[in-house]
Amino acid sequence: MMISVTFTASQNGIIRHKNTIPWENFNELRCDEFTRASCSRLLVLGRHSFEALKIKLECDLLVLSTTKTTSEGSIHFAASLAEAMEIGRAGGYQEMVISGGRQLLIEAMLLADVIYKSTILVEPMGNVYAPTIPTNFQLIWVRNYKGNPSHSYQTYTLDPYTKSKLSSTGLLKL
Ligand SMILES: NC(=O)c1ccc[n+]([C@@H]2O[C@H](COP(=O)([O-])OP(=O)(O)OC[C@H]3O[C@@H](n4cnc5c(N)ncnc54)[C@H](OP(=O)(O)O)[C@@H]3O)[C@@H](O)[C@H]2O)c1
Repeated sequence: MMISVTFTASQNGIIRHKNTIPWENFNELRCDEFTRASCSRLLVLGRHSFEALKIKLECDLLVLSTTKTTSEGSIHFAASLAEAMEIGRAGGYQEMVISGGRQLLIEAMLLADVIYKSTILVEPMGNVYAPTIPTNFQLIWVRNYKGNPSHSYQTYTLDPYTKSKLSSTGLLKL
């Protein structure tokens, strides 16, 4: 199972301001691809990020929490990243995609094979900055989109040969 990390930052490196994301929604193609129902991808979020979601996701979702353990409908919980990985492997997923908050992104980057970053070309005020991408990752794929706001996607991997395995939006092809 491949482990990937995804986050979206503004041009000045902000990932959130207090409890909000300080930019308007835009057509996030990569986000759509992660959150569409797929039997091969498991999305992992911290509990606060899950509670802040404004839309119902179709994809398989696992929420990290030390305080919630009992499944609620189709939402399942894991008490650590190690437990999440066990669940992902046992479920036969090809890719586990981990998103924020900041501490979780930092922890997950130590285990990841791939980092998917989206950059929104705005410079908002914010109080939480994106973590630094570890220097052992290489930027292997970039795509810029004009829009309102303009944005760009970057894919970083440990293995430069992964480039041939990426889809048109820079995600691993499953
Ligand atoms: N810009 C972006 O790309 C992006 C991405 C994701 C989220 N966000 C924003 O970030 C905000 C939430 O961030 P946050 O810093 O509050 O963090 P968070 O990681 O979403 O939530 C923190 C909580 O998740 C659980 N958790 C996190 N890591 C864990 C681990 N390794 N093992 C077990 N439980 C773990 C704990 O829950 P318990 O207290 O239940 O133990 C912890 O209190 C939201 O506003 C969201 O919109 C932005």
